[in-house]
Amino acid sequence: MKLENDIYLRASRGEAIERYPVWLMRQAGRILPEYRAVRDSVSGFKELAETPALAAEVTVQPIDLLDVDAAIIFSDILVVPDAMGLTYQMIEKKGPWFEHTIRTDSDLSKLDIKIDVEDRLAYVLEAIAITKKALNGRVPLIGFAGAPWTILCYMVEGSGSKTFSQTRKLLYTNPILAHELLQAITDVTIEYLKAQKKFGADALQLFDSWAGILGHEQYQEFGMKYIKQIVAAFQGPFTVFSKGAYSSLENLMNLSCTTIGLDWNMDMDNARVLCGENKTLQGNLDPCVLYGSHQRIESETLNMLKAFKSHRHIVNLGHGVYPDIHPENVKTFIKTVKNNEI
Ligand code: CP3
Repeated sequence: MKLENDIYLRASRGEAIERYPVWLMRQAGRILPEYRAVRDSVSGFKELAETPALAAEVTVQPIDLLDVDAAIIFSDILVVPDAMGLTYQMIEKKGPWFEHTIRTDSDLSKLDIKIDVEDRLAYVLEAIAITKKALNGRVPLIGFAGAPWTILCYMVEGSGSKTFSQTRKLLYTNPILAHELLQAITDVTIEYLKAQKKFGADALQLFDSWAGILGHEQYQEFGMKYIKQIVAAFQGPFTVFSKGAYSSLENLMNLSCTTIGLDWNMDMDNARVLCGENKTLQGNLDPCVLYGSHQRIESETLNMLKAFKSHRHIVNLGHGVYPDIHPENVKTFIKTVKNNEI
């Protein structure tokens, strides 16, 4: 089906655009009262994510309510460990929690390494198919997964952490185990992203939220090595968002994907010098700008747009939108980008 609004896809491929496309990481959920109403009709996040019709409904909400240029499927990066037999719970106000962790060879041997993703993650794939129908060609749908390093962090640590020191400890005490687990996650992730495309995702994004806690050499060995394998398996719009990977920006620009996501501490000019016109850059407004007045949001957004040295951009925040941001402030950000012709 031909899309009515394909500006996100054109920008990804480096084709001509008349204005910059805009969407927000974590736009599905959290900030919208309409999302909370749907979530309150079930037992919590997990049931919502595992009920395809409801997941599709909250995926489409930001298209209707915020007027963004792309939808992102409502799910979580943690569905991959869950499908491999390491189930998680989402604890209200605390975040994800795993009953079991992978810290020894014996823990790894209990994990399901070869899985049929179309069976175990059927609920996400069905949500994608329903969403595509509901979108009816209005905007493209982004599928996603966590990058292997970030998924390893949660599987070893068993929850969120400021330092992920158990995970980083493993890199010194049992690097072979870390590599075996990273490879297993990589293999499942490739199959999972292929299935998302098959069921209707128009573009893909990898979230490496914890890239920034590794030094350069370690990120090459335990992060980039696996991201390279994943992006090499795909053609077409594909974004890699490695939050905090400042010392690896040049390596990221050599990946075979179309788009690199930047966080708000990354220098856009420097990133452009490193990639030239070979990559689309996505980002990177400080999410806290959206706490400002409407006037301030508009001026900060325009300052960012004016500073772009190329048209090869997709506008986004430098990380996911914070849960207590007012939707009207998000709308000001989106309108400012959409009204700015280039
Ligand atoms: O972008 C979207 O709107 C699509 C949905 C989406 C969710 N999580 C839904 C969600 C996406 C793309 C994610 C990615 C994700 N999940 C990441 C990578 C991006 C990032 O923020 O760095 C990470 C690290 C996770 C793991 C995770 N999920 C954590 C740490 C938490 C708790 C804290 C938080 O961010 O809310 C979640 C819960 C989660 N995932 C919620 C949602 C809407 C909140 C649960 C709820 O309020 O219903």
